[in-house]
Amino acid sequence: MEAPVAVVGSGIAGLFCALHLAEGGHDVLVLTKRNIEDSSTNWAQGGIAAILDRTAGEAIEAHVQDTLDAGDGACNEDVVRSVVLEAGARITDLLELGVRFQEDGAGGWHLVQEGGHSARRILHAKDATGREIERALVAATEAHPRITVESDAVVIDLIRRDHPHPERGVVGLWVQGEGDGKVRTVRTAAVVLATGGAGRLWEPTTNPPVSTGDGLAMAHRFGAAVRDLAFVQFHPTTVAHPQRTLLITEALRGEGAVLLDDEGLAAWKEEGGDPARFSFTLNASPLGSLATRDIVARAIDARLKKTGQTHVWLVTSHLDADTLQERFPYVQSMLNDLGLTLGEDPLPVQPAAHYTVGGVQVDGHGRALSTEGKVLPGLFAVGEVASTGMHGANRLASNSLLEAVVFAKRAADAILAGVDPVAATDIPAWRSDGLSLLEEHGALAHDLQTLRSTMGREVGIQRSHRRLARAKRRLDLLEHEVEATWRRCKPTRDLVELRNMVLVGRLVVDDALARTENRGLHYNADLV
Ligand code: SIN
Repeated sequence: MEAPVAVVGSGIAGLFCALHLAEGGHDVLVLTKRNIEDSSTNWAQGGIAAILDRTAGEAIEAHVQDTLDAGDGACNEDVVRSVVLEAGARITDLLELGVRFQEDGAGGWHLVQEGGHSARRILHAKDATGREIERALVAATEAHPRITVESDAVVIDLIRRDHPHPERGVVGLWVQGEGDGKVRTVRTAAVVLATGGAGRLWEPTTNPPVSTGDGLAMAHRFGAAVRDLAFVQFHPTTVAHPQRTLLITEALRGEGAVLLDDEGLAAWKEEGGDPARFSFTLNASPLGSLATRDIVARAIDARLKKTGQTHVWLVTSHLDADTLQERFPYVQSMLNDLGLTLGEDPLPVQPAAHYTVGGVQVDGHGRALSTEGKVLPGLFAVGEVASTGMHGANRLASNSLLEAVVFAKRAADAILAGVDPVAATDIPAWRSDGLSLLEEHGALAHDLQTLRSTMGREVGIQRSHRRLARAKRRLDLLEHEVEATWRRCKPTRDLVELRNMVLVGRLVVDDALARTENRGLHYNADLV
């Protein structure tokens, strides 16, 4: 019997890839760590940047240029152009799958703008675009006879064809399901990692609990090249909320919301007029509150460090309150819990870890590459876990959903074009002998807290040699201890995640320490 393709992760990249594989006639097993809709996609507010007409030369070039500018000289221009050109076709796919974007009432799409974009080119579904995309993709996935979805499936590692040579390719996965905790061996024709990013290494973060860098860690252990992990994108505007760190979509700044510090707020109250004139962000860029995220987040961070305060203000009271309520109902519903109203109250905002720009290095078809630059047969990475060359040193807002669908389709096409059949005898069982039950879960929680506070304090928006070196010492120790537990104990979800997070944390620090220049999202004060 032919093995299924295993897709690990159930956000936009994973489900879009699974649907294309299934439509192409392949059986697909979607493995998701919790429930199918538990993904960063479901939490995405902004939208999907897309020029729908690939013959619209100027608009295409402007999107390409904005992406290159945001990426601070580190994007692969060919990749950027090819992704931008493919946007229309992939948006058509999404529409056919039932995604409903906001219309403009005149037969077109309502488009918005975010930081770093020189034009309105972002399709959206009010302020819950990801939720709408996820709704449609989940419905199509669950209805497809060729796709099996397994929830609560923790993938522990990729299995090599011929240990220890990763270039011989991937032949399966070790998966721990719900229930008896047994680890089973799953034979696969190919594995698509669509596991998202690693935002949960930091606190605060806009990411859901599932974003623990599992795919990055598995790919690294397998021998895949993992690059540019120092480029961690912090979203400039989040509000502390009892349920979760609440993202305030950049589209709100696209509609005219402005960042002010205490002084700017006082001056604006006194003098009135356009609040943008009083924004401290103007010292960082003439685009002020609508500069790219690396610049705005750094300007806020510097302000907070200088003033000792926990937040700056995002003001919207100069904008039309009804339009804001209509356009941002999700954000308003969360703000209700805090007694704050768009169009009236200044919002207390601070940056939070948001997007993992680096990732598993892939070629133009989403095929993972080894550290020697060779294709690893059968292993693919799509979405946030992948590094395609699109985002460079800083992702342009709302480019990630676009990159995800483009590369998910390309990976599906590459798999459909043919992957090696795998003999069942090739696959080793999980090493379960002699492992004891993990008895002290408290120690894991403590290690996780140490990891998150280390990443937050020492590996944040502004770094230094001393901070990074301190982080390195702590993470080396943590890694050593977690690995010792791993060798001794049966895996649990917490242990699998912690092991992955500590490894990814160490890789982030190693990449940051190795950098000799500041670029995009990496800013080391000692390199200025
Ligand atoms: C936002 O809505 O500001 C987030 C969109 C993105 O991360 O691209």
